[in-house]
Amino acid sequence: MTYKEYLLELKKYSPYDFSEYSDSSIQRRLQKVLEMHNMKLENLLKRTAEDPGFVEQLVNDITVNTTDFFRDPEVWEDYASNFLSKINKKKKINIWHAGCSSGQEVYSNIILLNELGLLDNCQIFATDINQQVLNQAKGGTYRLSNNIKSFDSMNRLLQLSVDGCLKPIDFSKYFDINEASDKLVFKSEWRDIPTFKKHDLVQETKPFDIKFDIVFCRNVLIYFNVGLQGKIIRMFHDYLNVSSLLLLGHHESLSGFFKTKFTKNGNVFVKNNTFNFKY
Ligand SMILES: C[S@@+](CC[C@H](N)C(=O)[O-])C[C@H]1O[C@@H](n2cnc3c(N)ncnc32)[C@H](O)[C@@H]1O
Repeated sequence: MTYKEYLLELKKYSPYDFSEYSDSSIQRRLQKVLEMHNMKLENLLKRTAEDPGFVEQLVNDITVNTTDFFRDPEVWEDYASNFLSKINKKKKINIWHAGCSSGQEVYSNIILLNELGLLDNCQIFATDINQQVLNQAKGGTYRLSNNIKSFDSMNRLLQLSVDGCLKPIDFSKYFDINEASDKLVFKSEWRDIPTFKKHDLVQETKPFDIKFDIVFCRNVLIYFNVGLQGKIIRMFHDYLNVSSLLLLGHHESLSGFFKTKFTKNGNVFVKNNTFNFKY
């Protein structure tokens, strides 16, 4: 049995479809799972067909969940100074973090929106295919030692982006910090703001009945093949209001048809106003 054949079978036995993930990445991850369980693909398929709990663990093992607070600080800087600082403070802003992993991206955005006085008007949704990382996100608990560097970036970023405000931000407002237990907990008053929801970008193309002003989908499309990337970008295009923002990862971009439907502005893509738009 080949990896491709396994993935096609997996579709039959589970709610998941990884058959359009990019070959190299999915094969590497599956290889690791096989080594971990000392199995062949045939046994993996049997286990997959028989045990839904195992399938959920498999999703956790084959998705890449790396994330960070203010990952790629220059993107946040661009987003804050060129876009957020120009938004009308009274405007209602709908935001979707697709592929939010364990929540650091969402909480970074909440800090930024709050420091810029925009948070009260925001409705924030954060989704991921992996229930385990969503549970972590909801808990908002991280290792302090892993995030010290991000704190530095946060400070530099916020000093740059909040006009005239050169004082460092007071992190105790957002986090309970416990050095002894190496814990960093995003406080519940902020943690309760986003709605975390399990959602599979591949299978569910109509997860919301509202339009969005900002969609984050960073470091997710890179794991999909070109055809699937196009399908997901099309969904985002449909969900975004005109002049709204799409933020992709550092190594992700728009190609072909959709390149003409957005204007690239630094690291942020802005949806064009296209009349009589037809796919
Ligand atoms: C590398 S993390 C990116 C996290 C965050 N956006 C960032 O840039 O730091 C990729 C996330 O995409 C999620 N993901 C992968 N396939 C997905 C799918 N089909 N639907 C929704 N999320 C998916 C993974 O579970 C993982 O948490």
